Parts: sequence; C-alpha cells; structure tokens
Amino acid sequence: MIPEKLHIMNHPLISHKISMLRSVGTDTRDFRDLVSEIGHLMGYEATRDLPLVETEIDTPLAHTRGKVLPHQVCLVPILRAGLGMVDAMLTLIPAARVGHIGLYRDPRTLKPVEYYCKLPTDVAQRIVLVLDPMLATGGSASAAISFLKARGASRIKMVNIIGAPEGVDVVQREHPDVDIYLGSLDEKLNDHGYILPGLGDAGDRLFGTL
Ligand code: PRP
Ligand code: URA
Repeated sequence: MIPEKLHIMNHPLISHKISMLRSVGTDTRDFRDLVSEIGHLMGYEATRDLPLVETEIDTPLAHTRGKVLPHQVCLVPILRAGLGMVDAMLTLIPAARVGHIGLYRDPRTLKPVEYYCKLPTDVAQRIVLVLDPMLATGGSASAAISFLKARGASRIKMVNIIGAPEGVDVVQREHPDVDIYLGSLDEKLNDHGYILPGLGDAGDRLFGTL
C-alpha cells in the first residue's frame, strides 16, 4: 500500500454511521439516508486540499481580499451505487459538474463491464471525485479511473465508504497517483468478491432490489 495516498477517515460520526449502514436490519430508506450523510462527511474531508484563488470582496464596511474555489470540480458516481453519494456532495460543491460511468461486475468473472459513460467535455481541467460506496476487488474503480485518464483527467480522487485491502492494492498498483479516501478499511474479500464484514450489495440495498 502507498500510505500517503490512502486516507482512512477515523471520524466518530463517520464510524457511527457506517456501523448503522452495515447492519442487516437497516432498511432501504435508512440505508439511503446514511449513504448520503456519510457522503457529506467524506466530501468535507476529501475536499480539504482543494486549491483556492484570491478574490476581492466589498463587505458592508470595508474592501478586503478573500479566497474562493475556482469552480473546477467534477463528481463522477459509478452507477448504480455511487448515485447515493451525489446529492450530498452537491450540497458541499453546488457548482460541480456531474459525469456518470456505468459499470457492473460480472458475477462470474468479477470483472467490470462498462455500459455507460458521459463526462463533461472539460473534465481534463477539473479535479475529479469518483464516488462509489464500495471498493472490493478494485476492478470497477480502476476501470473508471482509466476512462477518466483516457479523457485527459489527471487530478483524480476516489471516495469509497468501505474498502477492502485487495481493492486498495489494485487501484494503487494501477493508479499510484490517485488519492483514495475510505470511511473504513475492512478485513478482506470473500470467495465471491464481497467485502467482509462489509455491508452486502450496496446497489441492491440502496435501491431496494434485493
Ligand atoms: C458494486 C459497487 C462497485 C463494485 C465494487 O457495484 O457499487 O461499483 O461493485 O466491486 P469491485 O471493486 O470488485 O469492482 P455492482 O457491480 O454490484 O453494480 P451496481 O452498483 O449496479 O449494483
Ligand atoms: N459490491 C458491493 O456492493 N458489495 C461488496 O461487498 C462488493 C462489491
């Protein structure tokens, strides 16, 4: 692992909400709310180092200088489950553009299969936050990052609520330049490529398709 590119969020609010998210007793509605709340908290941490530009401001009392974001972020949820994190991120960065990458894991090979990709034309100029609650084998994340790089994106951060060491290793081997933000680094994958202890199938729990 490349420790300086892996950011594990040991925030009590995130840990508390992830515990609720894991529970098999959490229904679809609460699951959706929790993914959104965790996405909001993780978005705050993952944007901590966004560059700012200077601006001039007139307050009611004085002329001063301040700093603002130069509107350069693109959010890219990996469909489906990444959609659950988008609205919360947009409340933090309302001017962000949103691209979509559709991937599903072939249940037999566990390899990602692409079915949709729509990105803003200026994605190469933007800082890209790739959103997906789960980083399991790392196949989906790595493929999504490769699509983005093929479109010229060079400043990419991956935001996952739960990750497995196997997935972190794959992304870091194939994309050592990418920062990975995790709410929890779990133990391992099971024989079907599911994260243990994990939370099950994020897309199915989010959309009630179990
Ligand atoms: C899940 C999850 C990730 C992927 C992670 O999606 O949301 O995209 O699996 O697994 P990986 O790291 O082994 O690639 P899934 O393929 O189940 O699709 P869905 O969101 O449409 O349910
Ligand atoms: N995808 C999920 O939704 N959950 C896992 O544990 C692994 C991949």
